[in-house]
Amino acid sequence: MDEIPDVGELVPPERTLLGPGPSNVHPRVLRAMATPLVGYLDDYYVDVMDDVQALLQYVFQTDNEHTFAVSGTGTAGMETAFTNLVEPGETVLVPSNGYFGNRMGQVAERAGAELVTVDAPWGEPLDPADVRAAFERHQPTVFGFVHGETSTGVRQPAVSELADIAHEHDAYVVADTVASLGGNEFYTDEWGLDVVYTGSQKCLSAPPGVSPITFSDRAVEKVRNRDTRPRSWYLDLEGVWEYWGEERNYHHTGPISTNYALREALRLAGEEGIENVWDRHERVAGAIKAGVTALGAPLAVAEDHWLPSLNAVTVPDGVDDSTVTQRLMDEYGIEIVSGLGALEGDIFRVGCMGHSARPENALYFVTAFAEVLADEGAAVNPASGIEATRQALSE
Ligand SMILES: Cc1ncc(COP(=O)(O)O)c(C=O)c1O
Repeated sequence: MDEIPDVGELVPPERTLLGPGPSNVHPRVLRAMATPLVGYLDDYYVDVMDDVQALLQYVFQTDNEHTFAVSGTGTAGMETAFTNLVEPGETVLVPSNGYFGNRMGQVAERAGAELVTVDAPWGEPLDPADVRAAFERHQPTVFGFVHGETSTGVRQPAVSELADIAHEHDAYVVADTVASLGGNEFYTDEWGLDVVYTGSQKCLSAPPGVSPITFSDRAVEKVRNRDTRPRSWYLDLEGVWEYWGEERNYHHTGPISTNYALREALRLAGEEGIENVWDRHERVAGAIKAGVTALGAPLAVAEDHWLPSLNAVTVPDGVDDSTVTQRLMDEYGIEIVSGLGALEGDIFRVGCMGHSARPENALYFVTAFAEVLADEGAAVNPASGIEATRQALSE
């Protein structure tokens, strides 16, 4: 090709990111991304890796040594968990009540697992009694669940109970926290979890590109005692640990700028205090919840499994969800998205994650949402929605 493509300067539009991720990024994180590169084994970068690991232990609430950031988005964390933990022929139990639970199943199958599922309706969490029954019936060696299911806005409660069931059966528990870690109370060690992974771009509010993960010593032991090598070279824990562990040898080139950014995002979480970060998500999402409820478009999930980082808002009768999401984007620069899978057309998915989880965004969103819904002919009450949001924020 001889012609030089004529592309303009990069000037992204301003967006208020209230979808399922990425979230908006703090200016300090943006600055960190723009700082000079060093080599991936430069002493300076090795120190950055140490900092990232220590800060990740803090946000995961774990003392696990094997805590690091997989190079790749949240799905790479998922693949790292199952590819290492599962040997061909092992039985793996995953949920079937959400898009990302299904993805877990696909990933586990590619690792060679015999897949079995535990069911619950979309929009409901897993019932521990069903998990226990599935264990008794299938005797899985690995059980994966999604702590914050982005497709339904459901938070899985009773996490330690699920972990206990798995451990009583000598199995390992994997938790997907891509859409929840940092936005909701979470205790890796206290809850007895074996592998937990997340994404950089949601409640942690860094750019997409790395997937923080933590392996308990027990999980590492299982990986070390495998009969076969993991099917992925790139995500093989033994190889990756050559880079992130004490040796610090080349395994692959670290995504340097993304880890700079993650370090800064984690530093911000540390300065605020993780409990305060959880509380902020709950408070701002609570204001969105109060606003849409008063408006006449309540959440589609019950209070005891509400996921503050991802709010499943009912689409009012007579309204076309994609028209609303498009108008919010075009007229207000606000990103929210439609439902997925079984909930397509029934819910809007309104994220409240990381640096996007700020009071002014709750008010801006509810105001814009109210105007668009009213304009589209929905029987909603804009003034009450806005007032309820204001009220919730002032409490
Ligand atoms: C719960 C959950 N798991 C896994 C993923 C996959 O992460 P990624 O898209 O960063 O690869 C997502 C992304 O939305 C998610 O919400």
